[in-house]
Amino acid sequence: MHHASKIYVAGHRGMVGAAIVRELRRQGYENIVTRTHAELDLTRQADVEAFFAEERPEFVFLAAARVGGIEANRTAPADFMYDNMMLEMNVIHAAWRNGCRKLEFLGSSCIYPRMAPQPMKEDCLLTSSLEQTNEAYALAKISGLRYCSYLRRQYGADFISVMPTNLYGPNDNYHPTNSHVVPALIRRFHEAKEQGLEEVTCWGDGSPLREFLYVDDLANLCVFLMNNYSGEETVNAGSGKELTIGELTRLVADTVGYKGRINWDTSMPNGTPRKLLDVSKAAAMGWRYSTELPEGLRMAYADFLARGVRL
Ligand SMILES: NC(=O)c1ccc[n+]([C@@H]2O[C@H](COP(=O)([O-])OP(=O)(O)OC[C@H]3O[C@@H](n4cnc5c(N)ncnc54)[C@H](OP(=O)(O)O)[C@@H]3O)[C@@H](O)[C@H]2O)c1
Repeated sequence: MHHASKIYVAGHRGMVGAAIVRELRRQGYENIVTRTHAELDLTRQADVEAFFAEERPEFVFLAAARVGGIEANRTAPADFMYDNMMLEMNVIHAAWRNGCRKLEFLGSSCIYPRMAPQPMKEDCLLTSSLEQTNEAYALAKISGLRYCSYLRRQYGADFISVMPTNLYGPNDNYHPTNSHVVPALIRRFHEAKEQGLEEVTCWGDGSPLREFLYVDDLANLCVFLMNNYSGEETVNAGSGKELTIGELTRLVADTVGYKGRINWDTSMPNGTPRKLLDVSKAAAMGWRYSTELPEGLRMAYADFLARGVRL
């Protein structure tokens, strides 16, 4: 990409899209095209085609998606499949048809097989059954990923993808029932602190191991890959470091300043015991994350407070 290249960031108001726009601007890219969901519904094929025919962006970051936590995925699989499949196919196809030089598609580590060997390498995709709770989302995401590969194979399109681990940071979703673990814990402990609660109960026993990446580090990798990687296979985006949910919970409570007791409701499910990405591919290209979890959590909580997220 050159500094004057026309770059479309789809989903620029979301956590990932906003971070990609921040990173592009930080690196001096100024010709950035965006549309809000209200201005352009990416599930509408004719509208997407008209947008691409008019704007003809040279580079596209596809960070728009219908995203949700376990509960939303479990209860609305049809919506997750339809919206994601439609918007991915529309954007990728219209980008290709309108001369886009390179597109980067955002996958998610949750689309790797449920029982993938740990740490998960890029080539474990589609080697065994998917996690049941987000199967619809995963099928749509895998289709988008594969469509990029097939366009490369059949037409030589330089379309790539990246596979991020659990992300957190500015602009996260703090919805009470429809959010990921880090924003859910931030909200929970903030509420508990405000209400002076003496104890907070979390699900499971705190033993599962998880990995987290600060969203601005992911954005840095996305721009790096756009400039430095061309290949059919996706690239994992993670820290390569793991901690238990118990340790994460303590860390978030400390960040928020919650001093009460933390209980574990062991009658509730733990989820997969371990989920970690093998990040050696990005490392071999010379990329490494830079924000450690305590610092990232401090910045995420500062953003939560600054945005005045309503409880
Ligand atoms: N968050 C994570 O932990 C995580 C981890 C791994 C991978 N990822 C991937 O990163 C990508 C972005 O995730 P995110 O966390 O940034 O999600 P997000 O905060 O929910 O942002 C998604 C954005 O897409 C927009 N969007 C959704 N449907 C649309 C449509 N039909 N037309 C136009 N815009 C639409 C949303 O706009 P509205 O809000 O107005 O609908 C929102 O701005 C996804 O592909 C996700 O799989 C995220």
